[in-house]
Amino acid sequence: MTYGIKCIGLLTSGGDAPGMNAAIRSVTRSAIFNNIRVKAIYRGYKGLITGEIKEFQTQNVSNIIQQGGTILKTARCEEFKTIEGRKIAYQTMVKEEIDALVVIGGDGTFTGARIFAQEFNVPIIGLPGTIDNDLYGTDSTIGFDTALNTIIHAVDKIRDTATSHERLFFIEVMGRDAGFLALNSALASGAEAAIIPERETKVDQLEELIKNGFRKSKNSSIVIVAESEITGGANGLAARMHKEHPEYDVRVTILGHIQRGGSPSAYDRIIASRMGVAAIDALLDEQRSIMIGIVNNEIVHVPFTKAIKDDKPVNENLLGVLQILSI
Ligand code: F6P
Repeated sequence: MTYGIKCIGLLTSGGDAPGMNAAIRSVTRSAIFNNIRVKAIYRGYKGLITGEIKEFQTQNVSNIIQQGGTILKTARCEEFKTIEGRKIAYQTMVKEEIDALVVIGGDGTFTGARIFAQEFNVPIIGLPGTIDNDLYGTDSTIGFDTALNTIIHAVDKIRDTATSHERLFFIEVMGRDAGFLALNSALASGAEAAIIPERETKVDQLEELIKNGFRKSKNSSIVIVAESEITGGANGLAARMHKEHPEYDVRVTILGHIQRGGSPSAYDRIIASRMGVAAIDALLDEQRSIMIGIVNNEIVHVPFTKAIKDDKPVNENLLGVLQILSI
């Protein structure tokens, strides 16, 4: 496909994240502002295969900046993982006269975008929309801040009952294979510790916790656990405690999908709005196969290959801060 983009396709894919609607609004309005038509594609890449597409005007994105979820719906599309599926998707783009795509999602979304862009020479720009914050090259993804806030409000409530009963709580948070949500929510909620997959191969974090005398002066404790086979999850750790340290009165809370819902925070609305405008600017600037990121409060461009392949390191200094503050 050549440049001189007249019409873009816009979709959300993978797990939804608060702020996706703010991003949809921003991309739509910024495109129209630049005389580019916008075709909204429903249910992620699936809509590109089934042709579930509707042209958007500015009013289609009114009153959505404050809404959680995604008005475009989302899906993880198995068919798009096949060359046959991607061929149909490309035919739909040609039929609909879509010259370029803006895709909002995470790792899986950009993996699909990268292959599709290569195979069919399609300009694609990605916006990082995932609560996990696990994309390399951006300080924050759209949805991460809101999910953190949801987690700390839940932890505050659990702390009341943990204190009353003098119990140890393992609270499991999402993050897929990454510990960003766990580590940051532990800090922000005043938890005693965070157990994250990034460290588990180096040390036995549960043993470390016991050895450090994590209860110290307190009778109750909150430990945030990142979901992951590597950490064993909250249930896995509770089972170990039951066997190895039966003296503790342990309970488990798995926060689950509550973390993905709710009205986006101001920060998520702001970065989604800035990133949406930056996506259209990037297309006008003949960029392709990049994710828009934010580093030190400045917009950056990250090639898809880097965003999805490079491991984003957790800031292990935060673990030290957590330990100092939990005395
Ligand atoms: O990637 C976002 C995420 O919420 C992860 O934190 C979690 O592991 C996964 O999606 C859950 O996916 P699903 O909603 O398909 O169960």
